[in-house]
Amino acid sequence: MISVCFSRCSCILYFVLLIVAFVLGYIWWGPTKGGTNPDVLPVVLWHGMGDTCCVPFSLGGIMSLIVEQTKGGYVRSLEIGGNVVMDWESGFFIHPNEQVDYVCKQLLQDEHLAKGYHAIGFSQGGQFLRAVAERCPNPPMRNLITLGGQHQGIFGLPMCPTLTEASCDYITRLLDNAAYAPVVQRSLVQATYWHDPIMENKYRLGSTFLSDINNELYINEFYIENLHKLKKFVMVQFLNDTIVQPKESQWFQYYTTGQNKVIQPFTESKVYKDLGLDKMHRQGKLVFLGVEGDHLAISKAWFIKSIVPLLLEK
Ligand SMILES: *[C@@H]1O[C@H](CO)[C@@H](O)[C@H](O)[C@H]1NC(C)=O
Repeated sequence: MISVCFSRCSCILYFVLLIVAFVLGYIWWGPTKGGTNPDVLPVVLWHGMGDTCCVPFSLGGIMSLIVEQTKGGYVRSLEIGGNVVMDWESGFFIHPNEQVDYVCKQLLQDEHLAKGYHAIGFSQGGQFLRAVAERCPNPPMRNLITLGGQHQGIFGLPMCPTLTEASCDYITRLLDNAAYAPVVQRSLVQATYWHDPIMENKYRLGSTFLSDINNELYINEFYIENLHKLKKFVMVQFLNDTIVQPKESQWFQYYTTGQNKVIQPFTESKVYKDLGLDKMHRQGKLVFLGVEGDHLAISKAWFIKSIVPLLLEK
């Protein structure tokens, strides 16, 4: 594991922050809420990098909002590894394949979800939940909503929420220089969806997560079939995003191979056919929403207007 502390000062600061998050996460807010209204499907949330399942100023607040808007529907915010420290670390250091396996088991064991559920992924939680949809058809996911998800990966990491600047610089240098080295793939989550458009082949062969779920190594029919079981796959792009590069990755688009300026039209991309997105598109299952604002800048009013109706669908 890569140390996130570069000086004694930042170590102490992180220690204090983690303790605070721990207290908030454990005493005030749990990973589940609601649960008495049988007329709505449960909702599963997966947090982004540098976040955890339940603090009230982040996903805890969204959980409460969903419970209120669904009149007591069951909401579960995934806590990876079973405690808040592991949960925070998972966003950087636990391989997505391992996280997805863990989540699939957790979802299967949760009896509230047996008849199906809606899923909302925040940032990288978006592509991780898509992997859950593709790899684990039980319990069935109905609507998958990704808020700022990086479905085609990233090429650039201008900021790392809740990490120090020195740690973020270190990670960025590592990604620039050695993203596809096996040791980096094993130890740094962001490397697994680092998508170098200039060395497309290196990416395809070196990525241990994204190129697999995007059917770029070989066509996995099981993934296509499972993704197709979704009623809707809703992708939300933050139109003024300064964190996700390129921001179009949030709508499953990416650079044309060989350069990092021009975005290839979605319907002309390889993944469009290879993951069966073409068929989903024709059937109206793909929904593209744009919101003005920076990464994950979600207002309560927008969430109620644009997301809640999707959660009320059967
Ligand atoms: C955000 O992006 C949209 C679409 O590109 C643009 O029309 C709008 O002016 C931008 N808003 C801000 C505040 O920059």
